[in-house]
Amino acid sequence: MPYTEEFLEKVAPLYNEQMGTENMAPLLHSLINFHRPQRLLEVGAGYTTPFIAQALRDVVDARAQEATDPDNPNHVAEHYAVPYAPKLLCIDNHTLPSSTSAKVQALMGEMGLDDLVDFVEADITEYSEQIDQSFLPLDFVWFDCGALKEYFLFFNNFWRFVNPKGGLLLMHSTLTNLEISTFIKSIKLLQATSDFNNIEILSLLEPHKKAQSSVTMFRRTTEVEETIYTLQP
Ligand SMILES: C[S@@+](CC[C@H](N)C(=O)[O-])C[C@H]1O[C@@H](n2cnc3c(N)ncnc32)[C@H](O)[C@@H]1O
Repeated sequence: MPYTEEFLEKVAPLYNEQMGTENMAPLLHSLINFHRPQRLLEVGAGYTTPFIAQALRDVVDARAQEATDPDNPNHVAEHYAVPYAPKLLCIDNHTLPSSTSAKVQALMGEMGLDDLVDFVEADITEYSEQIDQSFLPLDFVWFDCGALKEYFLFFNNFWRFVNPKGGLLLMHSTLTNLEISTFIKSIKLLQATSDFNNIEILSLLEPHKKAQSSVTMFRRTTEVEETIYTLQP
């Protein structure tokens, strides 16, 4: 279900052109409707947060609607056997003055989406030992914070928390700046050598922008066993 005009009006105060997430936020919304994650982590709050939370609400509603049609032959029984109670853990240390992160929590309350999000004020580079183990593994991670040090530390500390059965990690602004392009090359090297069966990688570029114009998606495939349901598409 697409978001409404009312939704777009409410989230507009969180938008900041410098963050460049005007297309990323709707993409996250779509991907979450597609992937239906239960446990999500966002690092770097702002415009993207309500799109993630709204997507969770939309999937909850879609699941309730689908439950009224239990004999649909296209339904995957294993999917519906697991109750859907998603939660987003949103981490920000509110150190970037231009960020709208400090406004997000109150707006989530106003929009009735606060039951889907837990906010934690913390430095992500020191958080891996503090994360609630019962919240793992992570099915969907959106990382939008910092520079080279944060990208490397985050990958080194949190990749092991991503669900090995197809969990997704999305990292912002990966292609058009020198620092992070070296990070992406190093993960591609891992994928080409020791981790071929552990990582799938896809990057997308907004060709009309110089900065904040890309995303790289990592899918953790270590324990993925694809199920074949049909003979033909
Ligand atoms: C690029 S902004 C996030 C933009 C947001 N996703 C949006 O769509 O508007 C980065 C955010 O990360 C936060 N941040 C920077 N370094 C951090 C760190 N080490 N730990 C946690 N948060 C951090 C900043 O306070 C800022 O709010």
